[in-house]
Amino acid sequence: MSDKPKSTDTRSTDHRATAPVVGVARKIAKRHEVVIVGVTQGKKSISVDGADSVWDKDTQSAVVAALKAAGATGKAEQVTRVPAPQGIAAQAILGIGLGATRRDDIGAEQVRRIAGTAARSLTGVGSAATLLHSRGIAPVVEGLCLGAYSFTEFRSPKSAPGASAAPLGSVDLIVAEGGAKKTEKAIARSVAIADAVAIARDFVNTPPSHLYPGAFAERAATLAANAGLDVEVLDEQALESAGYGGIVAVGKGSERKPRLVRIAYRGGPESGGKTVSLVGKGVTFDTGGISIKPAAGMENMTSDMAGAAAVIATILLAARLELPITVIATVPMAENMPSGNATRPGDVITHYGGTTVEVLNTDAEGRLILADALVRAAEDGPDYIIDTATLTGAQMVALGTRVPGVMGTDAFRDRVAALSQQAGENGWAMPMPAELRADLSSRVADLANVTNHRWGGMLSASLFLKEFVADGTDWAHIDVAGPAFNTGGPWGYTPKGGTGVPVRTMLAVIEDIATNG
Ligand code: BES
Ligand code: MN
Ligand code: ZN
Repeated sequence: MSDKPKSTDTRSTDHRATAPVVGVARKIAKRHEVVIVGVTQGKKSISVDGADSVWDKDTQSAVVAALKAAGATGKAEQVTRVPAPQGIAAQAILGIGLGATRRDDIGAEQVRRIAGTAARSLTGVGSAATLLHSRGIAPVVEGLCLGAYSFTEFRSPKSAPGASAAPLGSVDLIVAEGGAKKTEKAIARSVAIADAVAIARDFVNTPPSHLYPGAFAERAATLAANAGLDVEVLDEQALESAGYGGIVAVGKGSERKPRLVRIAYRGGPESGGKTVSLVGKGVTFDTGGISIKPAAGMENMTSDMAGAAAVIATILLAARLELPITVIATVPMAENMPSGNATRPGDVITHYGGTTVEVLNTDAEGRLILADALVRAAEDGPDYIIDTATLTGAQMVALGTRVPGVMGTDAFRDRVAALSQQAGENGWAMPMPAELRADLSSRVADLANVTNHRWGGMLSASLFLKEFVADGTDWAHIDVAGPAFNTGGPWGYTPKGGTGVPVRTMLAVIEDIATNG
């Protein structure tokens, strides 16, 4: 069995083909097929937002009349598309409801969602102009780019019409004389963020037939090397001989052998700078192993490497933004399969660093590969460790599908949760009740990988991980089992499938540490 990626495996590094080109234009021109405008509910009538410097009163009234006739009310995220009235170069107006009457009623995240909804309704449009950025350039550009994402790599040309309609091609922010330079800088940063999220989404959306540990490691290494970062990939022999018992145990049942990818970005000052370690769960497919999962919904376990995807995307983003900080990524990758060689319930394994664990349930595999990786990450002497994983179904039972659970050392956990809220990814701080630790005791080993009950499953998973975090290190664990993969319909800037969560949370934390220590 060859672990070499096929030639097609390099395609996902082309993700930017799907991101719209964002530019600045002085005025609306013929090439703009659609003009995106925000619609607000005024006292008597709706009005269009940010149009004063672009359209005179009469033109604005004509736009309002057309949108109103088509039913626009200004309700949040309501989409109304009408032919452009006389005197506007573009063909159509896309009104998007802002859901508020007063300027300060609407926060950055709402702006992102509105822009994302607008972008999602513009598939097939080659070139658009927008006036939305009066609500903030960064959230508008982020929302537009995130919302325009599509993943069509595996659709053949025969694919159903519409299924692979081209996403929005380009969008120009209409900016009056003078503002262009500043606007372009803000655009560049938001585009970089959206690109990183797209990298994470592409990885998550790539099916397990094509994204297995060897291929995943190769793609990550290529992206990192192209960005000028230090990369190291440990293959199964290297893992075995260095004593990575958790990664080896989880990967054993599969023909496609495990990997550990290490990427370093050293952007910090010569002395005094902080080091952040990122660790992400990279289970390229989770059948449960011998403790096999039921068939219904198992296909969603293609997303079980979303933590790894987000970590890789985040370190690439830190480098692209040239953040003044050191970031080191430690990313274990394995495929959890049942086979004649798979780890059995009851087996005892020895983790990197020597801790022994009784594997009572082979479906609690994420914590086993993370345990090795956390111990390895600590060897770099980081000031902070953030790990992220699609770790427990219990995350969704506790918090639903859109709210990541954040655990860890108290102060850093709270900081990460607060920054996640600001970033619009909505992480929520959760406790690590000490009494649950006793339920992870094992008859034969230092620790068991599961409790014998289902109470607080997300919390007991974090207590397991805590055993592998060096004392005194600030640590946060972000469980994104639900938020990383959208099995429902698209909403705001979030497509179906991979969402890219928690890339923007980790960026916010790294930037905050770079600034405030
Ligand atoms: N990858 C799953 C967690 C998961 C479930 C992620 C649903 C996304 C959606 C993880 O490896 C797992 O199987 N966890 C078990 C743990 C249990 C055996 C203690 C779970 O949550 O059921
Ligand atoms: Mn599992
Ligand atoms: Zn898993």
